[in-house]
Amino acid sequence: MINAGIVGSTGYVAGELIRCLVNHPDVEINFLYSHSSAGEPAMSAHDDLLPFPEMKFTGTINPDVDVLFLCLGHGNSRKFLSNYSFSSDTMIIDLGNDFRLAKDADFKGMHFKYGLVEANRDRIQGAQYIANPGCFATAIQLAMLPLAEAGILQNDLHVHALTGSTGAGKGLSETTHFSWRNNNISIYKAFRHQHLGEINETIRQMQPDFHHTINFLPLRGDFTRGIFASVYMESAMPGDDVETIFKEYYANEPFTWISKDTVHLKQVVNTNNCFLQVQKIDQRVLVTSVIDNLLKGAAGQAIQNMNLMFGLDEMTGLHFKPSYF
Ligand SMILES: NC(=O)c1ccc[n+]([C@@H]2O[C@H](COP(=O)([O-])OP(=O)(O)OC[C@H]3O[C@@H](n4cnc5c(N)ncnc54)[C@H](OP(=O)(O)O)[C@@H]3O)[C@@H](O)[C@H]2O)c1
Repeated sequence: MINAGIVGSTGYVAGELIRCLVNHPDVEINFLYSHSSAGEPAMSAHDDLLPFPEMKFTGTINPDVDVLFLCLGHGNSRKFLSNYSFSSDTMIIDLGNDFRLAKDADFKGMHFKYGLVEANRDRIQGAQYIANPGCFATAIQLAMLPLAEAGILQNDLHVHALTGSTGAGKGLSETTHFSWRNNNISIYKAFRHQHLGEINETIRQMQPDFHHTINFLPLRGDFTRGIFASVYMESAMPGDDVETIFKEYYANEPFTWISKDTVHLKQVVNTNNCFLQVQKIDQRVLVTSVIDNLLKGAAGQAIQNMNLMFGLDEMTGLHFKPSYF
């Protein structure tokens, strides 16, 4: 069995990770570290864990754990790893954004590899330290990877991506308050969202001559979970060729699927899947991408990475059904 430790255990992402790992056949949760709730039962923060009354948050770690998941906000993974050391065999998966960019990837002798499986599977298989991609970054990159690998991103890109309220974590703010969020929609961080850094790095890794602008408008939606992203650009390439590029790129991917029909959140929420629709309309390529921000955009993708790092079937523990209705 793989012994797993989770840090930041009372948060939304950690909650999803716990829900998934209690059903993973090869994983046993070893500790749930919490700086705010040590000693409390896990169901004090995640009340659906009622059937696991013995599960408790702790203020101590086990340095010999096989895998450590860091589910902390910006800057706190570095702080945590500055204060605690783990065995030289411990695998670490950071779900925050402390180690995602190449300039941030090295820390205390550890080298973090970017954990977007559909771009970096071979590197992840041999990795000990993984920086799990951001949720927006996952949905958007999956819409762009085949185009980048084919070297046909020859124009600026336009991205609109709408996220549910869980994307902002469990802390209550004006824009996650029900009264504001319900029946509402808004743009934030226009053209400046922090995930642009990791998106640009992956795209340039695949298409080194890419020097165009990714115009990214992030939006807040009035639903709890899911990301709906559309990416479009001018292109002279025939529509059938674009579709073939996507189908071939994702032919062997277990979680990323091309749909000929319109895609929507209910198909993927509560799963680790990404559904993509690829269209050529007049002179534009339009790719629509949908994921669950807490699974494919966070905890599910982290488990997918863990499975690869430990040589397990990539889908182990990730056979979910969508909520749909
Ligand atoms: N929400 C998403 O859809 C999503 C998707 C992809 C990636 N992410 C990333 O995953 C990470 C966690 O996100 P989340 O949505 O789970 O956030 P969250 O709900 O706010 O949870 C973060 C947890 O971190 C701990 N924490 C908070 N402040 C801290 C501090 N100052 N020092 C140390 N620990 C602190 C708390 O847990 P304890 O009190 O139990 O220690 C808190 O519950 C973030 O980096 C986020 O960007 C989130």
